[in-house]
Amino acid sequence: MAIWPDEDSKSKRLYERGRKVYPGGITRLVPWLEPFPVYTKFGKGAYVTDVDGTARLDLLNNFASLIHGHCHPAIIDAVSKQLVLGTAFTNPTEVEIELAELLCDRIESAENVRFSNSGSEAVMSAIKAARAYTGRPAIVKVEGGYHGSYDYAEVSLDTPRDQFTSPPKSVGYAVGVPDRLLEDVYVIPFNDPETAANVIRAHKDRIGAILLDAAPSYLGFTHVTPEFAAKLRDLATEIGAVFILDEVITFRLDHGGAQKKFGVKPDLTVLGKIIGGGFPVGALVGSKEVMKVFDHHAGRPLVPWSGTFSANPITMVAGKATLDLLTPELIAHINALGDRARAGLTAAFASSGFPGQVTGVGSMFKIITHQRPVYDYRSQTHTAAESAAMVELQRMLVLKGFHVSGAGMAFLSTAMVAEDIDKFCAAAEESLCQLPHPASGE
Ligand SMILES: Cc1ncc(COP(=O)(O)O)c(C=O)c1O
Repeated sequence: MAIWPDEDSKSKRLYERGRKVYPGGITRLVPWLEPFPVYTKFGKGAYVTDVDGTARLDLLNNFASLIHGHCHPAIIDAVSKQLVLGTAFTNPTEVEIELAELLCDRIESAENVRFSNSGSEAVMSAIKAARAYTGRPAIVKVEGGYHGSYDYAEVSLDTPRDQFTSPPKSVGYAVGVPDRLLEDVYVIPFNDPETAANVIRAHKDRIGAILLDAAPSYLGFTHVTPEFAAKLRDLATEIGAVFILDEVITFRLDHGGAQKKFGVKPDLTVLGKIIGGGFPVGALVGSKEVMKVFDHHAGRPLVPWSGTFSANPITMVAGKATLDLLTPELIAHINALGDRARAGLTAAFASSGFPGQVTGVGSMFKIITHQRPVYDYRSQTHTAAESAAMVELQRMLVLKGFHVSGAGMAFLSTAMVAEDIDKFCAAAEESLCQLPHPASGE
C-alpha cells in the first residue's frame, strides 16, 4: 500500500490536481512539506488520518485552534443541533450573547466584545479602534511578532539578519508594501523595556497603539517578563495610546488567558482560534471606554464593524461548547503535558548529541535546531542550514507518525495523554540521532 511521500500515493495525486488550481499547489503555506503535503481524510481525538490511511498524532491541531483535538462529541453535538436550525442569520442570536458573556467572565479586561471571522481581522479592527480612539496613525509592535495578515501588523515579521539595526527598523513583509505604511509602524525588541521607552517616547504624538503578544510563536513562545509587561502598560498610559494584547494563541495558557498568567493589563485583547471550537473566528474584547468606537447609538460609529459571517451561530455554539469544556483543571493538565514534552525533548537532545533545544510555555513548544540562548526575535533566528535541519526533522517525524510544523512548533490538545507525549519524544530522539548536524552558525 502506498504511503506519503510515495509517487503513487493519493497525497501525490491530490497535490498534482492542486497544482492546477492553486499557485504552488496549496491554499495556505503552513501545511507545506517537501516534496508535497500530506492530504487529510479525517481527524479523531488526538489523531489525524491521511488519504492513504496513515494515522498520525496531531501536534498542530490546525495551528493551535483545536484545543480538544478533533471531533469532540460535545462540540459535534452542539454544532449538529445548530445545523438544522440554520447556519447564518442577519439578525443576532442568543448564543452570540452567551459566548460574549463567557469571554467577559473569564477575561478580566473584557467588558465588551465584537466577533469577526479570523484573528487577522480582529487585529486589524483593534488597530482601527486605537487610531479612532486616539486620533493618531501609528502603532508599535515587537520585532518578529506574528499577528496575522494585516499589512501594518506584518511589519518586521521576518527581518533578515543583514537588516538588523538598533532600534529595529520597520521592514515590509509582502513585497510592495508602501513605504508610507512603514512610517506608521515603530518596531521594538521583545522584553527590552529601555529600548521600548526610548522608541515610544520619541514618537509619542504619533502612536495610537502598542501591540503585544505575551508569548510570540516566532520567538519560540518566550514569554513576557513582568517588567516589560508593566513598562508597556505604563508607557501606553503615559502617552495616551491603546495597549492591545494579541491572545489569538495564548488564551489557551490560563483560564483568564495570558494576561492573567503574566499580569498584562491591556485595554483591548484580540482572540481567535480556540474560541471558535474549530470554526473560523476572531474576537476583539476590551474596555467599554475604547470599544465605544464601534457603537452606533450616537450616529455613525467612529469605526463601523462589518463581516457577513461574524458571530455566525455555528462558530458561536462550537466556541461555547469548547470553552465550557475547558476548565482550569484541563488547562493545568495540558500545560503539564507541555512540561512533559519539554523535559522529554531536552533529554532527547542530550542523549542524541544533536545541538538543539526546546522552548515554550504551557501547552505549546518549539523545537529549535541551534543551542544559542533564545530571548527575542534575533536570538532565535536560524541559519539556512539550521532551518533545513528542522525541515528534515519534521519529515522524519511525519514518517514516524507525528505532525509538527516546519518551524518546529507544536500545540497540544486535551485529547492527548502522557503516553502520546512519550511516544513523540522517543520518535524525536530516534530522529535526532540520525539527523546530520548543521554547521554551527551565529
Ligand atoms: C498571535 C496571532 N495573532 C493573529 C493571528 C491571525 O489569526 P488568523 O489566522 O485567524 O487570521 C495568528 C494566527 O496564527 C496568531 O498566531
